[in-house]
Amino acid sequence: MLSCGGSEKKTVKKEPVSTEISVSDMEKGAQLYRSKCMNCHMTTGGGIEKFYPPLANSDYLQKNIEESLKMVKFGSNKPIKVNGVKYNSLMPASGLTDKELVVVFNYILNSWGNDYGQVSLEQVEAVKR
Ligand code: HEC
Repeated sequence: MLSCGGSEKKTVKKEPVSTEISVSDMEKGAQLYRSKCMNCHMTTGGGIEKFYPPLANSDYLQKNIEESLKMVKFGSNKPIKVNGVKYNSLMPASGLTDKELVVVFNYILNSWGNDYGQVSLEQVEAVKR
């Protein structure tokens, strides 16, 4: 007989930490994107080659999330290379709050096929000039 002792073991169920972004946050992110970023980075994040770098499938964004946050937070016009193409135009400071930056970043990090993880409010707040 295998189990007749009646000694029921309580198993603590470990829920995996949720990595999903809520639908409403994705919608908020899309709205912010449309009003603040789409003019340059285009509807589906494709950018305009040599002028506005792509966000969709961007190796730069994937590897330099902190630096990208800094660029969007404070503006940027330093030379960068995205997917092998050089860009050196101006991105003005977004003027978004840290909370809005979290939402719009989580949107661009997880749209158009991107699967680049997430940023937290602490991470955005820690980004200094
Ligand atoms: C006026 C046009 C313009 C707007 C509006 C704009 N960007 Fe940019 N963005 C640029 C340019 C130009 C660069 C490259 C800057 C450089 O060379 O320093 C860039 C670079 C980036 C990068 C890093 C490079 C890459 O392609 O991965 C990210 C991420 C980014 N922008 C996100 C955003 C987000 C998010 C918004 C909206 C909140 C936004 N941008 C609004 C023009 C713009």
